[in-house]
Amino acid sequence: MLDLSILEPKPEWAKLVTFIPNKKVPIHNWFYFKEGFSRDFVIKIFDIFKVREGMKILDPFCGSGTTLLVAKEFGIDACGVDASPLAVFVTQVKLADYDIDELNKVSEMLFKKGFRKCDIGKLSWLTKAAFSKYALEDIAFFKEEIKQIEDPKIRNFFTLALMNSANKVSYAIKDGSYIRIHKKPHPPLRKVFKAIIKKMIKDLKRFKCKGSNVEVILGDARDLKFLTDEEFDAIITSPPYLNKIEYTKVYRIEYELFFPHVKVDSLRSYIGMNTNVKNDPFPELQLPLAAKAYLSDINKSLEEIRRVSKIGAKIALVIAEGAFPDRIVPCDLLIAELAERIGFHIDKIFVAAKRVVTRDRTIKIGRARESVILMQRSI
Ligand SMILES: C[S@@+](CC[C@H](N)C(=O)[O-])C[C@H]1O[C@@H](n2cnc3c(N)ncnc32)[C@H](O)[C@@H]1O
Repeated sequence: MLDLSILEPKPEWAKLVTFIPNKKVPIHNWFYFKEGFSRDFVIKIFDIFKVREGMKILDPFCGSGTTLLVAKEFGIDACGVDASPLAVFVTQVKLADYDIDELNKVSEMLFKKGFRKCDIGKLSWLTKAAFSKYALEDIAFFKEEIKQIEDPKIRNFFTLALMNSANKVSYAIKDGSYIRIHKKPHPPLRKVFKAIIKKMIKDLKRFKCKGSNVEVILGDARDLKFLTDEEFDAIITSPPYLNKIEYTKVYRIEYELFFPHVKVDSLRSYIGMNTNVKNDPFPELQLPLAAKAYLSDINKSLEEIRRVSKIGAKIALVIAEGAFPDRIVPCDLLIAELAERIGFHIDKIFVAAKRVVTRDRTIKIGRARESVILMQRSI
């Protein structure tokens, strides 16, 4: 394993590797994606990598599309991949070009219609517990109205606005991998929805971008068969963290309300979900099974990242150590080691933060590093 001397502290990046700064950034804040990093982080990496027009970048775990939206802003061609239909949907809506007059027209129509009760009886207990009856009835009503919009781009825009509004009036709190219910008063859904649409349209009017080709694909980073060899100049990404966030459970409510056709429990393409590990990359370390599964999947993704990168392409990976009751698994060092084995040269590993990790929410296990690996394809 690489030794600790390669680690360089970078505490000024602690916030940048989180989604928090995006909460104030138009369009980036159209959906609160807890696992995301910030626009400012991507801009920093663009700077370090000297990303300029004519280059093409990839984010194979694009989440809510932070890398892609910055690429669009700066006129850089980019492609994003994510295994989550929710993440791909959010990213698509953020990246699309809209006719503002058309959005205003549809918005006016939506609020002209008289309220009609829609059936909410079949929803799960969790979704029912997450909203007041009135909020849930309003959501169901607007969902039905939005379904009637013919243009899929406009329909998706209003669906995201409704999803965002639903989150604002929800009693559900995403707490690590769990959802907690905390009842509190909130304004009527209809009022929130109207304000959010207004804000989103205003954001679009203000957003300045140079023309570039930016797309997002629903796919698996372990098998990027739809991308060609040596296509990308830079990769900026953050794979899921080991043992930390379970991407399907915390978004259960969004899936039930807005993507009822997706079977949440069957999303097996997620990194680390398959514990039938054939190739343990570190047999000598006797890692917990979840860590073996995770690193084996990350290894496959790194092989694909190498294949689609040009020789000399720059790669930035945001990674966190994984916490287990009896130990911390140093994922940053292990993934850097895997990358070296495959054909990358590690330039630096910046340690942005050391976050306290607990067991059963109260017992401190230790501190886990959140790091940024900067490397390049060498062969
Ligand atoms: C840390 S998040 C990325 C957040 C992103 N940087 C942003 O700012 O929104 C990791 C993402 O990896 C996705 N993911 C998990 N397994 C995947 C796989 N096998 N292929 C592609 N994406 C995957 C998850 O759905 C999640 O959106």
